[in-house]
Amino acid sequence: MSEYHITNDKYAAAAKYISDRIKYIPTVAVVLGSGLSGLTCGIKNAVKLKYSDIPFFPKSTAPTHEGALYCGLLCNTPVLVMSGRVHCYEGYSMSDAVFYIGVMAKLGIKNLLLTNAAGAVNKDFAPGDIMLITDHIKLVAESPLTGAHNDLFGPRFPCMTEVYSKELSQIIKCCAADLDICLKEGVYMYFAGPQYETPAEIRAAAVLGADAVGMSTVPEAIAGCAAEIKIVALSVITNMAAGILGSAPNEAEVSANAKFAETRLSRLIESFAKSVSN
Ligand code: HPA
Repeated sequence: MSEYHITNDKYAAAAKYISDRIKYIPTVAVVLGSGLSGLTCGIKNAVKLKYSDIPFFPKSTAPTHEGALYCGLLCNTPVLVMSGRVHCYEGYSMSDAVFYIGVMAKLGIKNLLLTNAAGAVNKDFAPGDIMLITDHIKLVAESPLTGAHNDLFGPRFPCMTEVYSKELSQIIKCCAADLDICLKEGVYMYFAGPQYETPAEIRAAAVLGADAVGMSTVPEAIAGCAAEIKIVALSVITNMAAGILGSAPNEAEVSANAKFAETRLSRLIESFAKSVSN
């Protein structure tokens, strides 16, 4: 099983490759989800590193995921921005898919903003909305912490009662209010994909308390929380989930609505980067 092969040496080698090349120590890391890479244009004095050049880094194969890391200044705050992520549906084990969270921990990153495209289960949401994730549900697939225990990810049985930092969530809510951006809030439910859910699965998700569903973010949030990185996460609602208001999700709709929300999302992330002081 591949997860047994991820050792601290591998995290350290990737972290060293990055820290030898970047000009700033990042205060905030950002992971940009499907079709949400526009933020990278606003990064000043950026060093760009391709995932394929970083030792042991998983390669992003999903369409609309660039597969490059940027380190530079966003509104004068040193940031590390991952343009594209990897998903388990690309064939990675969950622990391999979150490799870069271990690397962020090695780099000493304290704040992590995760973004994704998601389908709305909550009928009060609409495509184009941005949702702050308050908590998550993950009932499928193994944990990103499966495998030999690694102290980098805290105790063997880490507590998950506040995966999404109240402090960072409050900061981003203030940023949204200042920018006059409507920010919904809700619970995100993880599905492994790559197929979209069935209407019956979405009805079950609604009963369980999900407001939105998607195929990412939760593995990274679990690993980040375990590594004592403060997490805040935003979903761009790109479609109504399967069967909700008759919806049949498809990639074209997801991409179009991700693009539609991208400018708002970028402004929100810039404001957040400016507001996070450590
Ligand atoms: N389901 C799962 N993942 C998604 C969806 C969805 O409806 N929309 C965007 N990503």
